[in-house]
This record gives sequence, C-alpha cells and structure tokens, in this order.
Amino acid sequence: DVADIGVTGMAVMGSNLARNFARNGFKVAIHNRSVGKTEKVIDSYGTEGEFYPSESAAEFVASLQKPRVAIIMVKAGGPTDAVIDELAELMDEGDIIVDAGNALYTDTIRRESALREKGLHFVGSGVSGGEEGALNGPSIMPGGTKESYDRLGPMFEKISAHVDGAPCCTHVGADGAGHFVKMVHNGIEYADMQVISEAYDLMSKALGKGASEIGDVFAEWNKGDLESFLIEITAEVLHHQDATSGKPFVDVILDQAAQKGTGAWTVQTALSLGVPVTGIAEATFARSTSGGTAQREAARAVLPAETQQLEISDEAQFVDDLQKALYAAKLVSYSQGFDEIAAGAKEFGWDINLGDMAKIWRGGCIIRAKFLNRITEAYDRNPELALLLADEYFTAEIAKCVPAWRRVVAYAAASGFPVPVFSSTLSYYDAVRAERLPAALVQAQRDYFGAHTYQRVDTEGTFHVEWSEDRRESKQD
Ligand code: 6PG
Repeated sequence: DVADIGVTGMAVMGSNLARNFARNGFKVAIHNRSVGKTEKVIDSYGTEGEFYPSESAAEFVASLQKPRVAIIMVKAGGPTDAVIDELAELMDEGDIIVDAGNALYTDTIRRESALREKGLHFVGSGVSGGEEGALNGPSIMPGGTKESYDRLGPMFEKISAHVDGAPCCTHVGADGAGHFVKMVHNGIEYADMQVISEAYDLMSKALGKGASEIGDVFAEWNKGDLESFLIEITAEVLHHQDATSGKPFVDVILDQAAQKGTGAWTVQTALSLGVPVTGIAEATFARSTSGGTAQREAARAVLPAETQQLEISDEAQFVDDLQKALYAAKLVSYSQGFDEIAAGAKEFGWDINLGDMAKIWRGGCIIRAKFLNRITEAYDRNPELALLLADEYFTAEIAKCVPAWRRVVAYAAASGFPVPVFSSTLSYYDAVRAERLPAALVQAQRDYFGAHTYQRVDTEGTFHVEWSEDRRESKQD
C-alpha cells in the first residue's frame, strides 16, 4: 500500500495519464483487465517514474495508500459501471473512485449517490486535451465532494496544464458538476470546429483558394484575437499534404463528420433546461447532415440552387469579414455554453464559478484559447452576469464584428453555401437583443387552438380569449 494514486484502463488515455502522474513524482499503481497492456506500459515507459503494476483488481486496490484514489479510464457506460462495482467491493470507507472518461453527468450523479451510501467518494472528472494533454498536462474538471478534492486536488493540479503559473484544474462542484462542465466544453468544441470549417469552406468556394493558402490565413488569424489550439491545428491540417496522392490532405478526406455523443448530450440537456445553444446545436446537426448519405444523395441530384453569385470585389476585405464573423459567432457559442452551465448549476444545485471554468480552459483542453481570459475577467467584474455577451468588453468586441458578420451570412445565403453556425449565432444575436419578438404571435396561436393562455404587455395576470365563441377575453387568475 505505497502508491499515491492508481489508474485502471491502460488504453492510450489511461496510460498517458498514469505516465503524467509518474513523471510528476507520484507513485502510480496501474491496472488493466488484460495484463498485456499493463506490461507494455512498464516495458515502454517503466523508467519514467515509479509504477506499481498489478494483475488483478484486488492487487491494484491493495497497492494504494489510504484513503485510496483509483482513477478509472475505460469506455463510458457499461464498462465503467462494471469497473466501479469491482473496485467498490474492494475499497474501504473514505476511499475515492474517479471516473475520468466522458461520462454523461446523470450517470455520474447516479453513481455518486450509490457509492456515497457505501461510504465511498465518487468523483466524475472531465479530462480534456486528448492523448497529448493526458501525458503533458490536460485541463481537469473534477466534480464530487470538497473532501475528495482536498485529497485529489494537489495531485490533479500538479499534473494539469498551467497558464501564467495557475493550474488548469479546480473543484467544479458536487457530484455530476465536473462531467456536466466537460460535456458543455465538448459542445463548444463542436461549435468552434464547425464555424472554423464554415470559414474554410467560404474561402475555398467563394474565393477559390487552395487548402494551403487557406492554411496561411488561419496561421495569420492565430496571431490575433482568434489565437487558439483549434485555429492552430486547422492551419497545420490545411498545410498537410497527403502522402499517397500528393493532394492537400483535407481534399482526400471523406466529408462525413463522426461524433461520439458529447455534442448531442450538450444539446439534449440544453433542450431540457430550456437554454438556446443554437451554435452548438447547429454544429452537431451539421455533423449529422454530413453523415446523412441517403439524404444528400437524394437532394444533390434534384434540388435547385437558384443562387445569386455575388461578386467579391475586395478579397482581403472578404477574408477580414470572415475573421470578424468567426470571432462573433464564437463569442455567441461560448456565451450560450456558459448559459447552459449556469442553468445546469441552478437545476442541480451546484456552486459553479463560471469565471473559474474559463480559467481552467485556458490551457490543456481542446478549446484552449487566448480570449478565455476575457471571459474570466467578465465574471470577475460581475459574477451575476446574466449574459456573457452583455459584458462591456464583449459588447465592444462584438460591435466591431457585426457588419462583417452580416455581410458573410448574407453572402453565403445568396450564394447557396451552408453556414449553419455563422447564421444561427447571428439570428440568436438579433433575437436576444430585439426589442420585441414574434413570440407574441406564437402565444396568441397557442391560446387559439389550445386555450394555453397568455399575458399582456399592459396588465398583470393570465388571460384567455374564447376564440370559438364570442371572442371575449377573460382573466384566468
Ligand atoms: C477533449 C475531447 C475529447 C474527445 C471528444 C471527441 O476534450 O479532449 O473533447 O473528449 O476528443 O470526445 O468527440 P467526438 O468524437 O464526438 O468528436
């Protein structure tokens, strides 16, 4: 019982996480259902630090110092439940089981409550940054009890990414809060990736630029407000050439985006909380549209385009417009994502510091970006901020982008190029800032066919009109 921490599940994420702990001076117990993988880690990386390999779950648990900390890094769903059950049987009161995979937060809430009854701590933790991040410093979003964070926090903070000396890890909130925040992180990741792809598509189709030339534009953008990991890797991908065909790599990839489900969870959760995450939703649907081969096949042959090819007189201006539209659309999807976190926190009773979430996303994770500092500052200025976009900094920033954003969306619509995130975020922007919305008419329709009632602009109370009779209005309460 000497190991500081244990990791079970020696696929690449688990083994990289274990190596990260070992490289940071922690004694790490490692375990995998099939022993071969554990041996491979020892053979290849055993010299990186102090590893304690074990062949069985019992041996694994026995090798941990009390209160024990065991991190599970296996497939979400059934496999995670199986490992939790196995470990829980072997552990003692006060021990901590951490699920570091992408679990659905409702599963985490259920598991936390079941293990709490047994006197164990269950921590659902978001870990972002892919294989590279797990090894060299991810962004870590642990939920669970404060007590468990007292034990885990120092270790997690040490192995996490650091920005300006601050760790990209903090206690997010109770039970499922960590996985909830990681889910929204992934939703924002979808929106970022899609809107970047829309900008690429317009440069390719409207300006006829080749992949590498577009890569140059992204590399340039990465020096400004848009500086981020996703813009950086986009430039790299676009500069990459396919070894087999000699063509730009992006041109030989099948245009069907896959998804493992976290984007859909973000949207489903937002729907049930009543939070409009239109950028994330459109990004998720865009992946589904791309994968709908039968529908695309059926549509491609017959649907008329009727486009109006607008002339682009100033190419540099068009590229500049795209950059601004990208920034504005990004601000909207982040604002929507933070709305979802705030709504989730309210619904599930989590005390989540929104500014801290932006802070721990500055490094390590997939959506790491320079501008996240601005989000932290906005919540520092006003922790009760009702809408991120309404913060003075963001208001000023978006104001600089609005005309360009409208030109991009108008251009794309006239030309027949799909821009679901550019356009849905702009529509949201116009809706949320509108003096009056056509929701009034929707309410009237609802009252007409379903007696669903409505409220008036000039009087308190709930009303209904007898539409099928004398059309007299009556007060309902
Ligand atoms: C991260 C990533 C990681 C994973 C996504 C990919 O934060 O490190 O988000 O969790 O790469 O789950 O999701 P899709 O396969 O759905 O694109």
